[in-house]
Amino acid sequence: MNDKALIVAALLPALDGALDEATVTKLIEVPKTSAMGDYAFPCFALAKAWHQAPPMIAQNLVAKIDGSQFEQVKAVGPYLNFFLDKAQFSQTLLQTILTDGLNYGSTDLGHGGQVPIDMSSPNIAKPISMGHLRSTVIGNAIANILTKVGYQPVKINHLGDWGTQFGKLIVGYKKWGSEEAVKADPISNLLKYYVKFHQEDQAHPELDDEAREWFRKLEAGDEEATRLWSWFREVSLAEFMKIYDMLDIKFDSYNGEAFYNDKMAEVVQMLEDKHLLQESQGAEIVDLSEYGLNPALIKKSDGATLYITRDLAAAIYRKRTYNFVQSLYVVGNEQRDHFKQLKAVLKEMGFDWSDQIHHIPFGLITQGGKKLSTRQGRVILLEKVLNDAVDLAQKEIQAKNPDLPNQAEVAHEVGIGAVVFHDLKNDRLNNFDFNLEEVVRFEGETGPYVQYTNARAQSILRKAADVSLDAHSDYTIHDASAWDILKQLAAFPDTVIRASKDYEPSVIAKYALALAKAFNKYYANTKILVDDAEKPARLALVTCVSQVLTQSLALLGVKAPQEM
Ligand code: ARG
Repeated sequence: MNDKALIVAALLPALDGALDEATVTKLIEVPKTSAMGDYAFPCFALAKAWHQAPPMIAQNLVAKIDGSQFEQVKAVGPYLNFFLDKAQFSQTLLQTILTDGLNYGSTDLGHGGQVPIDMSSPNIAKPISMGHLRSTVIGNAIANILTKVGYQPVKINHLGDWGTQFGKLIVGYKKWGSEEAVKADPISNLLKYYVKFHQEDQAHPELDDEAREWFRKLEAGDEEATRLWSWFREVSLAEFMKIYDMLDIKFDSYNGEAFYNDKMAEVVQMLEDKHLLQESQGAEIVDLSEYGLNPALIKKSDGATLYITRDLAAAIYRKRTYNFVQSLYVVGNEQRDHFKQLKAVLKEMGFDWSDQIHHIPFGLITQGGKKLSTRQGRVILLEKVLNDAVDLAQKEIQAKNPDLPNQAEVAHEVGIGAVVFHDLKNDRLNNFDFNLEEVVRFEGETGPYVQYTNARAQSILRKAADVSLDAHSDYTIHDASAWDILKQLAAFPDTVIRASKDYEPSVIAKYALALAKAFNKYYANTKILVDDAEKPARLALVTCVSQVLTQSLALLGVKAPQEM
């Protein structure tokens, strides 16, 4: 039983049915300072039913409830304050964590329901942007968190591998490119042709006609167009894979926009059958004014289908294939209206599961306060960022621990972990500025700080190698300075649930920072390895801290080296 449940169990019998379990659980608060107890129950909600003033109710409840499980239960004004029995609490908690191991904090909220997560989804022939990095790491962390609470995520990389830009790219390649150049450095050269196209078409509008014609050919299955397209796709994906490998992130599907080409006619037909399509200046649209949204553009005047049409086909395909209980799209906040339109059209089509579709937006990464832009060439090249982070970590480790045996591997885990952690530690909707030195620091609110704290705990355990822990020993801790850590450890299961409900990895990142901080404070003031009666309990505590820190990092997609 977790500690909050202990309080609910004590309160319920004394309330004579005035409030139910869920309400009581919701009402319980954590007081501002631990001097006021570990939990407090505000009595206002009972005043009406019992015709008494809240302070009076608090007084009466003290007498009425069974307080044997607690150190103290006290009325303070309208509140009933609970002080947990620290000795008993530490014993039960540490045993639970040691017994549960990696399953500590796991639940079955999801009952195995499938959850497609549309994530990463970079565009072929363009560099993966910082925005795509955010989508990748946030999506991956959400997948890990959902797995922990019993869902089955399906990670889908909805590659931007179709659209009119491929007509431009083919024209650019044929005019200014070469096979050797694309082979040597695919993305930067393909990007070059694309950028040049946009510079030249101002003065030579006929280029746009050529591009349209090539895209038309591509949609018609023309051999040369298809060959070039699939080659561009292949070499681009190979570049993206380098980044996914560095991050150690895998996908269950790479079905991009092109995958839905043969599934669009059915969507358009369904829209027609439901009389949802309207003509507007030669194009086919769905009117969404009832939703306060711009119309969804389904088919252009030249017959070309659009981004949202493909997303409609994808949403329907995913429902049929996975029978999902939720369907997530981890995509930047700037596409908010697109996903509102997508849901609205699905709703108009009569799909009640449109309510299970959730756009998970996130904020921008800026540099020096400025927005990044591919068109204006203000890009951060991701591979370089990750490599630079590893180099910086390497330098730091070299200075701190020159004899570390597997330095290169640890530097990789710390450098990459730093970038990922930095991305996940703020509420996902916040914008943040990217500064590599800041990201890779070993102190402050960083990934390396959490990793370092865990390595420190591991080093204590190595030194104490002679003590063996098992789930049946006495792990009672009387030392008050361990209290903060114990409460943090106990909060882990609820923290995971909160992160899963809000689709918010930062909840886990902030938790890991708080636990690391509590542990470092304890470590600075306590002689953990001194031989006394509480030594096994202290070592159990250190083991549990390391176990939960490692798990928190794993949920975020960050490795936890044993030594650094
Ligand atoms: N490729 C798009 C972009 O880079 C993101 C795709 C997001 N996923 C989706 N199903 N629309 O902006």
